[in-house]
Amino acid sequence: MASHLLRYLRCAFFFLLLLQLSLASPTPNPNEDCYCFPGESCWPTPAQWAEFNRTVDGRLIATTPIGSVCHVDNPWTGYNVTECNALRANWDFPHTHYESSSSVMAGLYANQSCDPFLGPASRCIVGTYVQYAVRAESAADIQQTLAFTRAHHIRIVVRNTGHDYLGKSTGAGAVAIWTHHLKTIDFLDEYRSPSYRGPAVRVGAGVQIFEANAAASRRNLTVVGGNCRSVGLAGGYSQGGGHGQLVSRHGLAADQVLEWEVVTATGDHLVATPHNRHADLYWALAGGGGGTYAVVLAMTSRAHRELPTAAATLAFAAPAAANHSAALAALAAYNTVVDLFFNSTLGPLLDARGAAIWELTAAGFSATPLTLPGGTQPQLQRLLDPMLAALTRLRVPYTYSIAAFPTFYTSFETMSPDVNISAYNLGGRLLPRRLLDSDPAILVDRFRSILASGAVLSGVSVNASRELPRNTPPNAVNPAWRDAAIDLVIGTAYSETNTTLNTLNQQLITDTLLPPLEELTPGGGAYLNEADAHQPDWQHVFYGENYAQLCSIKRRYDPEGIFYARTAVGSES
Ligand SMILES: Cc1cc2nc3c(=O)[nH]c(=O)nc-3n(C[C@H](O)[C@H](O)[C@H](O)COP(=O)(O)OP(=O)(O)OC[C@H]3O[C@@H](n4cnc5c(N)ncnc54)[C@H](O)[C@@H]3O)c2cc1C
Ligand SMILES: *[C@@H]1O[C@H](CO)[C@@H](O)[C@H](O)[C@H]1NC(C)=O
Ligand SMILES: *[C@@H]1O[C@H](CO)[C@@H](O)[C@H](O)[C@H]1NC(C)=O
Ligand SMILES: *[C@@H]1O[C@H](CO)[C@@H](O)[C@H](O)[C@H]1NC(C)=O
Ligand SMILES: *[C@@H]1O[C@H](CO)[C@@H](O)[C@H](O)[C@H]1NC(C)=O
Ligand SMILES: *[C@@H]1O[C@H](CO)[C@@H](O)[C@H](O)[C@H]1NC(C)=O
Ligand SMILES: *[C@@H]1O[C@H](CO)[C@@H](O)[C@H](O)[C@H]1NC(C)=O
Ligand SMILES: *[C@@H]1O[C@H](CO)[C@@H](O)[C@H](O)[C@H]1NC(C)=O
Ligand SMILES: *[C@@H]1O[C@H](CO)[C@@H](O)[C@H](O)[C@H]1NC(C)=O
Ligand SMILES: *[C@@H]1O[C@H](CO)[C@@H](O)[C@H](O)[C@H]1NC(C)=O
Repeated sequence: MASHLLRYLRCAFFFLLLLQLSLASPTPNPNEDCYCFPGESCWPTPAQWAEFNRTVDGRLIATTPIGSVCHVDNPWTGYNVTECNALRANWDFPHTHYESSSSVMAGLYANQSCDPFLGPASRCIVGTYVQYAVRAESAADIQQTLAFTRAHHIRIVVRNTGHDYLGKSTGAGAVAIWTHHLKTIDFLDEYRSPSYRGPAVRVGAGVQIFEANAAASRRNLTVVGGNCRSVGLAGGYSQGGGHGQLVSRHGLAADQVLEWEVVTATGDHLVATPHNRHADLYWALAGGGGGTYAVVLAMTSRAHRELPTAAATLAFAAPAAANHSAALAALAAYNTVVDLFFNSTLGPLLDARGAAIWELTAAGFSATPLTLPGGTQPQLQRLLDPMLAALTRLRVPYTYSIAAFPTFYTSFETMSPDVNISAYNLGGRLLPRRLLDSDPAILVDRFRSILASGAVLSGVSVNASRELPRNTPPNAVNPAWRDAAIDLVIGTAYSETNTTLNTLNQQLITDTLLPPLEELTPGGGAYLNEADAHQPDWQHVFYGENYAQLCSIKRRYDPEGIFYARTAVGSES
């Protein structure tokens, strides 16, 4: 513990030193240890912004918060009931946010700056949204932006889709480098390097999972992508680890990466591979978190041959609570089947290289879907038979479907419903396989206590260790991923309007719901993309033993610490 602390302090200490140095040197900022903020005299003049805009070929966008149509008093648009109602009705769809240059899906980090649900008289300001975004189309756009923000001491943020749950893709007073329109997709029939020979795909940083999936399927190939189609493949997803239904066959998304084409904090345009002199940067970007070391322009990853795939969905409801013997028997029956999922279904499914995307709430259990890439329908059916038999025997009503598909792509498109942005306060924990094998009853017991508090659980179960191709170069994925059988996410109710409630519900996760799971998994981890932004000891929990090395790589490529994001490496300073 003490040695960990020491390492974090060293990471922090370095940046503090820099701060002292910058105090001594002249800067355009009167408030020298802080970034320049709108309204301060150091903030660029309209003429300076216009000049900067010319250097990025007119791709500078001043933020108009998308909620402005819901507010009477705002400098951008009129109040329009029709448009406001349409915005509210579409709010939970990811595209409402990712087509915008500023909106974020994790509402908490918008800080009610221009909240469409608060009523027309509430404030509408830029607030915690970025002030400007540069719609990047080239390395030069990124270099110009870094030069301008450095010269004026303005905070920089890398923004792709705005999916990030921890608020890492927005920042008050910041200029965003907006990568969403970097949409090229190229396939290489045979990529060759000392560690890999085979098909590969090169995606621009703005390519979303649905676009990469569709392009790959046209060539009978697959890429490791997430369950949510609209997440950015080369953005926070692959940079943070990246789970999905093909992981038990091929590894995490970060494990697929062959090359990163980047612009570093110092403006250097370079390619990092496991075999060149930027191997350290390659290592850090593959799992060490987005928005931290460099701006990714493009990523080249392994592509894989298509596989016939079997998939199933299963759902059954918890009986309504009541205090009479029939109801108690129904509850016992329900609990038995839930137990069977964790104690004898999940492990064999992972051993067969399958994946489960499941949810457990007070209302019931559902799996959408259970997938066996490369497997047949009878194989998947056999894995599920014990649970189905118990459901029938114990008279628990359920819905079930199973099908075989010629390809993973058709399975994914058919069996995986598109997901909304999740309106929850979040926390997460990686739960190792040994908990399923040695004492699943304790684990399920902890799940039930969490449900009793009104929270919901969602789990992604894959085996991120067994199928790493030979010669896969090491990377910075949290080592806790390698023996995890469940990436567990805890959600508590989120209110669009009640900040007090959100604060309390986030504290509930940090102080009450996560600790019993942490106690079961001492020294364990959480997936940095699906976790509690207030996680104590996040350095170790999100990055494991890689933290010190990540700090030193960050210092090398971002010596002034310009890439800041909450819980990103180095952010403690
Ligand atoms: C509804 C939903 C479903 C999800 N499903 C999955 C899933 O199935 N599997 C999974 O693993 N994760 C999933 N996630 C989590 C997801 O991986 C993270 O939110 C991820 O950070 C999104 O990356 P992005 O680039 O799309 O988003 P953004 O919010 O735009 O960016 C996320 C982070 O990456 C940085 N970043 C983005 N682009 C770049 C770039 N080009 N260069 C440098 N830094 C960059 C940003 O600065 C920020 O720190 C899901 C999230 C949501 C909201
Ligand atoms: C940047 O220039 C383009 C093209 O002239 C213009 O459309 C855009 O509004 C400008 N951006 C800002 C913030 O002024
Ligand atoms: C409000 O928006 C709708 C839809 O865009 C448009 O047709 C209408 O003219 C707008 N009303 C006002 C008063 O601007
Ligand atoms: C998804 O979000 C949309 C838009 O807010 C909403 O209409 C729809 O009911 C949501 N779907 C689910 C399954 O929650
Ligand atoms: C969020 O908004 C409140 C006002 O409601 C303000 O006091 C606070 O400073 C804002 N937070 C950030 C990070 O801007
Ligand atoms: C993909 O596979 C199908 C069926 O095996 C075949 O007909 C088709 O030609 C293949 N397409 C490509 C681009 O290889
Ligand atoms: C359930 O019913 C029994 C007998 O009717 C009673 O003793 C017990 O207190 C009840 N429990 C609850 C939680 O209501
Ligand atoms: C799994 O749970 C069921 C129902 O609670 C129980 O009967 C069975 O013994 C458990 N099996 C294992 C391997 O723990
Ligand atoms: C993954 O597979 C390996 C090899 O079969 C096995 O040892 C390990 O326990 C599995 N891990 C998980 C999380 O299922
Ligand atoms: C907000 O939530 C808190 C905590 O649950 C509650 O006490 C308060 O009444 C709520 N406020 C409103 C306006 O609903």
